[in-house]
Amino acid sequence: MNVADPLFELREAVFDYGRHRALDGLSIRLPRRGRVALLGANGCGKSTLLRLLNGLYPPLSGEVRFEGKPVDFAGAGDEFLWNFRRRVALLFQDPDAQLFNPTVHDEVAFGPLQLRMPLHEIRGKVDAVLDRLEITHLTDRAPYRLSGGEKKRVALASILVLDPEVLLLDEPSAALDPRSQSQLLELLRGLDPSKTLITATHDLDVVESIADYCYVMRSGKLIAEGPPAGILADRRLLTEANLVR
Ligand SMILES: Nc1ncnc2c1ncn2[C@@H]1O[C@H](COP(=O)(O)OP(=O)(O)O)[C@@H](O)[C@H]1O
Ligand SMILES: [Mg+2]
Repeated sequence: MNVADPLFELREAVFDYGRHRALDGLSIRLPRRGRVALLGANGCGKSTLLRLLNGLYPPLSGEVRFEGKPVDFAGAGDEFLWNFRRRVALLFQDPDAQLFNPTVHDEVAFGPLQLRMPLHEIRGKVDAVLDRLEITHLTDRAPYRLSGGEKKRVALASILVLDPEVLLLDEPSAALDPRSQSQLLELLRGLDPSKTLITATHDLDVVESIADYCYVMRSGKLIAEGPPAGILADRRLLTEANLVR
């Protein structure tokens, strides 16, 4: 896609875990208000890319920019960081990496408390998001004791409660049973179109409901991009990306 004014831009980004190269000079421009999918087999670097976009890891070399400014938590001013954290939220692939509060209620209220929202407002927002994700009955439960799918919904609730403008979603539909999966896809489809949705997945069945545009990765690089219909019909590409047998 010819993205004139990208929300995120990576230029030749390299990232290594020890001696293992996870991103191998990745350049990508992601549009504002788009719904894009990052597609690729396990290990191609999707989660690493999302962590760089969210500023959790700095690139070893190359650049990560948000609205043209470097996502550089060492060098950036407080205002940029505060603004960035308010606007951009990441749903981790593994909800255990995200959940740490003693109850589901506390988990979902944590972000709003950090942002110093008034308490009565927080109560209303937490109730509303629990209801929306159909997890009100889990309010007093300990997140770490929940099932994988329940954890995923709690983690999603803890993000949606902040109403972020940009959602980075790492395999949001994995570990969900079919009913929860269609509920989730419905919910994502129902989000305000002003939001930017960037979803990493290897599940070809969900691509058309979560994205209007796809980027296909392999071995830490971008190998193709285009609208879902074209990508999903390209057997050779999907085989090359290890997305089909
Ligand atoms: N914490 C880590 N330590 C070492 N290697 C890692 C770590 N996380 C990911 N990797 C490796 O980096 C590569 C990219 O991983 P990842 O970004 O998780 O890919 P994906 O999300 O597409 O499955 C994989 O080969 C993976 O094994
Ligand atoms: Mg991953």
